[in-house]
Amino acid sequence: MKPEQFILGRKEQHQTFNTGPHRCVGLNLARLEMKVFYEEWLKRVPSFRLDPQAPPRFMGGFSLSVTSLPLVWG
Ligand code: HEM
Repeated sequence: MKPEQFILGRKEQHQTFNTGPHRCVGLNLARLEMKVFYEEWLKRVPSFRLDPQAPPRFMGGFSLSVTSLPLVWG
């Protein structure tokens, strides 16, 4: 698995919502909001794919950030 892969159904433990006693109490709401957002947004935008000439760029740190995401539309 690569850090830049986007795998909605992944089973491995991740740290996005932390773990243990401070595990995010809003995680179910956050997941639902993201699910609804992607469902509604994808209905409204034209089809797209990653630009094969310009791979996405990332910046590490406390959380992985996408700094450049060139897309090809249509
Ligand atoms: C993508 C959205 C979200 C992310 C990535 C996220 C992430 C986190 C993380 C990493 C922590 C642990 C912080 C620590 O170690 O002290 C945390 C805690 C918490 N989050 Fe979220 N959160 C999200 C959305 C939400 C939402 C929607 C709510 C409430 C409506 C919420 C409420 C809380 C609360 C109350 C805590 C403190 C839990 C505790 O310390 O017992 N979060 N969140």
